[in-house]
Order: sequence, then C-alpha cells, then structure tokens
Amino acid sequence: MDLFEYQARDLFAKHDVPVLAGEVIDTPEAAREITERLGGKSVVKAQVKVGGRGKAGGVKLAASADEAVARATDILGMDIKGHTVHKVMIAETAPEILEEYYVSFLLDRANRTFLSIASVEGGMEIEEVAATRPEAVAKTPIDAIDGVDLAKAKEIVAAAKFPAEVADKVADVLVRLWDTFIKEDALLVEVNPLAKVASGDVIALDGKVSLDDNAEFRHADWAELHDKAAANPLEAAAKEKNLNYVKLDGEVGIIGNGAGLVMSTLDVVAYAGENHGGVKPANFLDIGGGASAQVMANGLEIILGDPDVKSVFVNVFGGITACDEVANGIVQALKLLEDRGEDVSKPLVVRLDGNNAELGRKILTDANHPLVQRVDTMDGAADKAAELANAAK
Ligand SMILES: Nc1ncnc2c1ncn2[C@@H]1O[C@H](COP(=O)(O)OP(=O)(O)OP(=O)(O)O)[C@@H](O)[C@H]1O
Ligand SMILES: [Mg+2]
Repeated sequence: MDLFEYQARDLFAKHDVPVLAGEVIDTPEAAREITERLGGKSVVKAQVKVGGRGKAGGVKLAASADEAVARATDILGMDIKGHTVHKVMIAETAPEILEEYYVSFLLDRANRTFLSIASVEGGMEIEEVAATRPEAVAKTPIDAIDGVDLAKAKEIVAAAKFPAEVADKVADVLVRLWDTFIKEDALLVEVNPLAKVASGDVIALDGKVSLDDNAEFRHADWAELHDKAAANPLEAAAKEKNLNYVKLDGEVGIIGNGAGLVMSTLDVVAYAGENHGGVKPANFLDIGGGASAQVMANGLEIILGDPDVKSVFVNVFGGITACDEVANGIVQALKLLEDRGEDVSKPLVVRLDGNNAELGRKILTDANHPLVQRVDTMDGAADKAAELANAAK
C-alpha cells in the first residue's frame, strides 16, 4: 500500500524524523485557518500518489491566508498524471532552503537485500541525476539482521559524500528513518528533499512510504490509511469475501480456480479476442482451490456486478475443487441473483474438467439455464466467450 505524503509525514513524526507541521484538507476555505495558525504563510501541496507534483504545479507557496485559499482552489480538482487531487496538505513553510538531498531505504528484491539510496543532489531533478550521473547516487546494501545503526548510517553518509557540517545530522535522520522502515513494515521510505535549512538543521520536506500489505495483520491502525475514494467497490467487496479479484479493462469476465489457471485463461481469452473485435479480459477472479458452491456464487456476483463485463468465462480444472460443487455454485448463484431481482442477462461459458467433471457437466445440462453454455475445452470456451462479448459490445 502506497501512502499519501501527509500519511508519510505522520509516520516520520512518530519516529522522530524531523518534519514540518502539516494538515490535510479537502475544501479550499479550510486552508485559511491553518495558514493563520502557521504564522500567515504556508505551502499548499497536492496529495496524489504520483511523483513530480511540484513540476506539475501541485506544490505552491502562499504568502498569506488569502493566497493559501486561492492556491488550494487551484490545486483541488487538478489532474496530475491521471490522478485527481481530492486533498491538499497545508504545510509549514521551511526556513530558507540551502541544499536539497535525497535519502531512501527500500527492499531490493533483485539482490535479496535491503538497500539505501542517498544523494546530495536531491530535489525535483533526482530522476534526471540518477539517469545521467549515476555516480552522484550512492547505493549501499543493508544487512537485514544488522540493519542501520549509527556506524552504518555514517558509512552511507560517507558513500554519498554529504558535507561535513551536516554529516552527523543526516546520519541521525538515517537511523530514525530506518527505524520507521522496520517498525512500520515498509517496503520503501523515501525523503526527497531532505532539506538543509539556514539554521543548519535538516528537515524531511517530502516523504514517500510504501507499506508491505503482507504485514497488515499486525498493524490494526493501517485500516484507516486505506484510500477509500480510490478503492474500486467491487475490489473491496471481493476482499471482504476473501476472493482474489483484479479489475482489468476488457469485456470478458474471468473466473477460475488457482492463480496459474486464471493467468493462462487471461492469455487464452486475449488471444481468442483477436478474432472477435479485439475483446479482452475484464477482470481476474481466482476462487482458489477447494472452492465451494457458496464461493462460486460470491465470485459470480462480483463479476456480474461489473458493468464492463459482456460475457463470463468460468474455467475450472477440478483438483481439490470438485466440478459438481462449482456447477451447483453456478446454478445457485444465478437463482440467488434472479430472486434478488437483479438483472441477470450476461451469457456464461463454462468449461469444467478434472475432479468430478462428468457430474458437474451433467448438473449444468440438467439445469438447462438459458444463459449458460458448456464448452469442454479451454480454447473452445475462450473463443465462445470472446465471440459472445464481441456480439454484446
Ligand atoms: N514545506 C515546504 N517549505 C518550503 N518548500 C517546500 C516545502 N515542501 C516542498 N517544498 C519545495 O517544493 C519542492 C517540491 O516539493 P515536493 O518534493 O514535496 O514535491 P514533488 O515535486 O512531488 O516531489 P517528488 O518529485 O519527490 O515527487 C521541494 O523540492 C522543495 O523545494
Ligand atoms: Mg519530492
């Protein structure tokens, strides 16, 4: 889960990484009171989960409360690289900035280790610096057991050639930032810029944090970090029912058992779609191994609830999952949705193979539902589902 800057700021503050005051708002007028409290000036910052906000006009200084309201009016609703700005942070203005540095810790999957990245040439051009002058960016592997103590932090500071007068302060920030990284179960903590201000202090002016979703079970407080405005309601419903569902942008709804089968089903449908008006998979839904009739019903309900879906392909290879259970699930789900008065009009193509396939096929044949077609090969079923989706486009 990626966090907004204001959420990253709060986590940094919790672990004593030096930050400035900041409050998040979603109406321009709210900028007035905060700016007055901050001494009559502030920085208005778009809260979107994408880099380069400053360059896109999403970070503006305001020299008065009136100006803060005006800048918040400009920025709220703005589109930054496809992300609509719903919230802005009204931040305390940094004292005169003398230098801007870059520091981060992240999980380096390729090298199976943690990594520190640091540069004295931080700020809004860091991507450019990294691309054109990689020698200006110091990369230091971090041992997962040893972590970052003061000695390791000093090693990073030396590798990145931080000026002597800020070396101790930066090392201190690095230790606290590492503490944030570990205690919060993050995959990335990034500060850009870490600013050296006139007093000689260093302050984190912008933060990016990505948390490891696998650790959510031990962080009850993460529930409130979720971005409800951005969450897809079907994805949320699927999560609640413990289904793995991913929204894609095509027309054929896909249900399968096991991620491997579902992924190859996506490929087969995309391939078949080339002969049928270029239709593509509309989503990915894995009902998992050992799926019961109820699970099948839950899955179908979600897939049929997606208005982009024009046809559904249910592809099940019974291993632990028994095909008769799946077939019953399909029949029950359709009845359940019809009884509820929902509009059930999308054609379903079902391919059942493996454990209890014969029984499952018989259940579908006997039910004789007008929307359900059985095709007993994967390629044939994908072709039929693509054809039906194209016809309904
Ligand atoms: N509170 C602040 N006070 C003064 N100047 C600030 C403040 N916050 C940001 N700035 C200035 O604005 C610039 C851009 O801000 P920031 O880094 O937050 O946004 P960004 O452009 O989205 O960053 P990134 O490129 O990392 O995504 C900073 O490099 C800094 O010079
Ligand atoms: Mg930045």
